[in-house]
Amino acid sequence: MTDPVRTIKWVQNGFTLTYFNNKPFFIHGALPDEIIHFEIIKENKHHGFGIVKKIIQKNPLRKKIDCPIFPLCGGCSYRHIDYKEEIALKIELLKEFSEIKPYLETGQFDYYFSPEYKYRNQVKIHYLNQKYGFFRLYSNIIVPFSEEGCYNLPEKLNEYIKKQNNPSNKLKEKKIFYINNNIIENQTFNIKLMPEVEWEISTDCFLQTNRFLLREWLDWIKNKVLLLTQKSKVNVLELFCGTGIISSYFLNYLNSIEGYESNSISLKFAKLNYKKYHIKNQFIYKDLYSNGVNIKNNQYDIIIINPPRKGIGKKLIQSLENCNIPMIYSSCNPATFNRDIQILKKTGYKIKHFAIFDFFPRTYHVEIVATLVKNKC
Ligand SMILES: C[S@@+](CC[C@H](N)C(=O)[O-])C[C@H]1O[C@@H](n2cnc3c(N)ncnc32)[C@H](O)[C@@H]1O
Repeated sequence: MTDPVRTIKWVQNGFTLTYFNNKPFFIHGALPDEIIHFEIIKENKHHGFGIVKKIIQKNPLRKKIDCPIFPLCGGCSYRHIDYKEEIALKIELLKEFSEIKPYLETGQFDYYFSPEYKYRNQVKIHYLNQKYGFFRLYSNIIVPFSEEGCYNLPEKLNEYIKKQNNPSNKLKEKKIFYINNNIIENQTFNIKLMPEVEWEISTDCFLQTNRFLLREWLDWIKNKVLLLTQKSKVNVLELFCGTGIISSYFLNYLNSIEGYESNSISLKFAKLNYKKYHIKNQFIYKDLYSNGVNIKNNQYDIIIINPPRKGIGKKLIQSLENCNIPMIYSSCNPATFNRDIQILKKTGYKIKHFAIFDFFPRTYHVEIVATLVKNKC
């Protein structure tokens, strides 16, 4: 444990900044303007990371922590402040990104927040040597699952996890879903997003985790597709398409869909679903960080991009250079989003609409979505 230090301010990724031995340290579990002792968990020549161990002087905004494994567990960053404060903080931190700042400062954005408890439809649990739980921040040390369960999970999922055991001594992980009030492990399932559409996917596919905001997010994208294309039948290109679930939300307006993705199981389900609903489709396996895509401007009415945290990537950005098709970019990482928008801006694109979906309350993560158009659109 270190000598006492004063924390200075909130910084990105749920940390507060402090200095210890003249070196910047990013602290998990503190608020600004607190005096704390911390444990160093990672350090290099220039900076380090730590977890609060003891609080000598509290910030008045600190609230009683509801979860017994916070801040040891690396999952949540904000269990020590009110959700209201968290929302305000997330907006302030987003203003640090040059391309996002103007929209936030002028109030030109939509904000969708989530119930702060039990919002996840899936969880990854780690097992090792009879222990199971979540990882400690920046490590693969297991913080045992608490008797109270995880507050981000529905009760049924918590109860199910507590009954698990794993005699193996090898580190294993399990992804468990909670869909339509059912627990789902290692299998195919249907997700009903609209009364007339059932999307078949499996536990090996990506699915957005917030069960309360999933439809709101899809609806926002659908409305923007219709607004930007002004067409009754659209031709869509989805990059990092997963099971193609985004376009499933406007199936009635789809003429054709082409999707690129590197998870072959997701591609299998994408094909199967669009075939079932008789939509002209082409789903192609591609590592989009190693390969570009040949984009012809008259081929699609809209491009939907929903990459992992790494963002769009150099190869794909090059493919988009001469493109003038409206785009919708949904991102779970404002830093790579900002970088990509700066590059796309040089090719003539600008943000037209912007929205924040707080898919992950109590954590530092947010989903942001923007529509991008070139001047003539
Ligand atoms: C944020 S998810 C979006 C999936 C889909 N839009 C959805 O909402 O279900 C990102 C997707 O990118 C895919 N992906 C990851 N790395 C990739 C790569 N190198 N090339 C192509 N796709 C990749 C993942 O498999 C995942 O399906």
